[in-house]
Amino acid sequence: MRVDILTIFPEMFKPLEESIIKRARDKGLLSVNVIDIREYTQDKHRKVDDYPFGGGAGMVMKPEPLFRAVENACDGENIPVVLLTPQGETFTQEHAQQLSRQERLILVCGHYEGVDERFRERIVSQEISIGDYVLTGGELPAMVLVDAVTRLLPGALGDDSSSQEDSFAEGLLEYPQYTRPRSFRDMEVPQVLLSGNHEAIRYWRRKMSLARTDKRRPDLLEKKILSPEDRKLLME
Ligand code: ADE
Repeated sequence: MRVDILTIFPEMFKPLEESIIKRARDKGLLSVNVIDIREYTQDKHRKVDDYPFGGGAGMVMKPEPLFRAVENACDGENIPVVLLTPQGETFTQEHAQQLSRQERLILVCGHYEGVDERFRERIVSQEISIGDYVLTGGELPAMVLVDAVTRLLPGALGDDSSSQEDSFAEGLLEYPQYTRPRSFRDMEVPQVLLSGNHEAIRYWRRKMSLARTDKRRPDLLEKKILSPEDRKLLME
């Protein structure tokens, strides 16, 4: 997958050179192309924003550099253009899955009071927010999106971790995990995990997943159609 990121702060994208994302890039599963919107200005001051027509506080991102930067990145192809903005749909694992199936993506990091509406109307195909809070710009949200999408690319995670096992993909929270030592301070690892009984372990984990989701995120359970076994585990 190739991701082009349009930003006025290209230096902010260093985190995409670390960890699993770095590995995915090294393996050729992902290519990230950070584009400085300012390079697409044509005036002496390289202006990317201007005052809003009609007055009011804040600045608005000018349409011309944005149009030129996207048109240059697309080079005539039809590529999804995602604008990161608090006004977008709230990002979910489903969005991540859907976006991970694209061959190319163009991400546009919004700033100031927003972007000129003509760019949204003509160029943007999808607007995404990473949550109901306002950040200083779309750069961190773009990195969040790239991170969530990258780990879904086939081959991006090592053999021993699989994104298909994400409980979240299934609409449930993760069950509790333990590692060595068996006994730490006054706390023991649950006996069932040491039993070697795979069926009992699977049962316990499912039960914990369901109970945790019910307690912390009942909204997730409401959306889910539970199997008779799940319903029984939840009642126990
Ligand atoms: N830009 C500023 N805040 C944002 C958010 N919560 N999500 C996406 N883009 C943003």
